[in-house]
Amino acid sequence: MSQDALKVAAAEQALEYIEEGMRVGLGTGSTAAKFVEALGRKVAQGFKVTCVATSEVTQAQALALGIQMSTLDDQPYLDITVDGADEIDGALRLIKGGGGALLREKIVATASGGMIVIADASKQVETLGAFPLPLEVVPFGLAATRNMISALAIDVGCEGDIRMRTLSDGAPFRTDSGNLILDCHFGRIPAPEELDEALKLVPGVVENGLFIGIADLAIIAGSDGLTVIGA
Ligand code: A5P
Repeated sequence: MSQDALKVAAAEQALEYIEEGMRVGLGTGSTAAKFVEALGRKVAQGFKVTCVATSEVTQAQALALGIQMSTLDDQPYLDITVDGADEIDGALRLIKGGGGALLREKIVATASGGMIVIADASKQVETLGAFPLPLEVVPFGLAATRNMISALAIDVGCEGDIRMRTLSDGAPFRTDSGNLILDCHFGRIPAPEELDEALKLVPGVVENGLFIGIADLAIIAGSDGLTVIGA
């Protein structure tokens, strides 16, 4: 099975958890897009849900499929959010933000009664950190913020690379909130809770891509079938 087909399999399984009338948070990224596609097909058959998107890209995709969209201001409590992840460990701790939407993703997931993660098996890891941890940082004081990150009193240090829009145009990537992304190559994050707490103390860091204690269920699609963690 191709990686694309695995993403579809996980996304379609997540649809089983969505009941008529639910308020649903829609994630960002290629796997979450498969879920939005599948939900769109169901909506086209008359299934009713109200959704809140975690990015402008997902918002546009959902609207194009005829999904009824709302905002967290109008729906500050959601029933469930379905989103992808860059890494998932055995304790349902995640790295997210490969698509740069981590801030809105964390706000939406935290405003939800539950979060389902959908992924292909390549995202499952023993220890988080091989995937660079994305941090959303404000542009003001960037050099000072990077210094503070590299001086964190934890056993992994890293000042982070500023994510660029493309490799060639020399312009930094901007999030939907107008901030920058620092990709931090920690290599291994043996104590994610500790790193999360430390990063929260750096004023220029708006949010980091560690999702700890947020996901309730992960649906992982591998060549040997679906695995559900946290059920
Ligand atoms: C978006 O900012 C991310 O958190 C994505 O959910 C994550 O990067 C997974 O994306 P893919 O499904 O495209 O791998």
